[in-house]
Amino acid sequence: MTQPIARRIDGIRLAQAIRAEVAQRAATLTASGHQPGLAVLLVGNVAASAVYVRNKVKACEEAGIRSILERLPEDITQADLLQRVEALNQAPDVHGILVQLPLPPHIDAHTVIESIAAAKDVDGFHVANAGALMTGRPGLRPCTPSGVMAMLEHETIPLRGAEAVVIGASNIVGKPMALLLQAAGATVTICNSKTRDLSAQTRRADVLVVAAGKPKMIHGDMVKPGAVVIDVGIHRQTDGTLCGDVDYESVSRVASAISPVPGGVGPMTIAMLLMNTIEASEQQIKHENRHA
Ligand code: GUN
Repeated sequence: MTQPIARRIDGIRLAQAIRAEVAQRAATLTASGHQPGLAVLLVGNVAASAVYVRNKVKACEEAGIRSILERLPEDITQADLLQRVEALNQAPDVHGILVQLPLPPHIDAHTVIESIAAAKDVDGFHVANAGALMTGRPGLRPCTPSGVMAMLEHETIPLRGAEAVVIGASNIVGKPMALLLQAAGATVTICNSKTRDLSAQTRRADVLVVAAGKPKMIHGDMVKPGAVVIDVGIHRQTDGTLCGDVDYESVSRVASAISPVPGGVGPMTIAMLLMNTIEASEQQIKHENRHA
């Protein structure tokens, strides 16, 4: 039995193209005397966070963005952390600020995120940016969902009138993802861990975005033939290899296009962080020049 195999959506290649554009725009800003700068705050010793932060800092360097990595102790007080953020808010050569999550339990992440100047909030997590997304106003958009949108756009997937189903309702991925798809004209359903008959929902989807955090939970029999499937999950399996929330093997025999793990959404998230940093830098420098 031969069945068609879905097109593989190459996040690495698209991320490279975006990073090349970022590097070009960074070079232009640097030549005008304003090198873009991103500050990354890493609190404590979460091993995964250290890896993510290292990748972000390395990506900045490759794009010609100055990165300022601040490692802060696990037992830093919330007041001291807020003071660090405020110093970066005031620094004219810092255009983006990212506080890596999760934070230690004695610190309220919402308070810290809300203390970042919205114009420097390159994660797009600040309520001002979340509200701007909800109301269709300009602002910084969260990196993973905007990376998914860039993938769909690059693959010329029609979204107007399409049925889009998002699994996962987090503030970082699921909710902003749904809003971006809706803004593009899709009819959007957000599913969560309590959704009754998940298959009935996923089988309606022309575009299925999975950010559930459960390894290989979506199988081929849950997917409409010809659907486009985007896998936001990433998990380390017992044999050391990585997998997503989607069972690639079975879904790729039903879908028309699918993003792999690794090599799909992951590299796009970093590319969009760099893009947000460039856009934030350009805005701030323009504003600074107007008021000079
Ligand atoms: N932790 C996991 N994902 C993210 C992210 O996108 N941004 C930040 N700041 N922390 C995270």
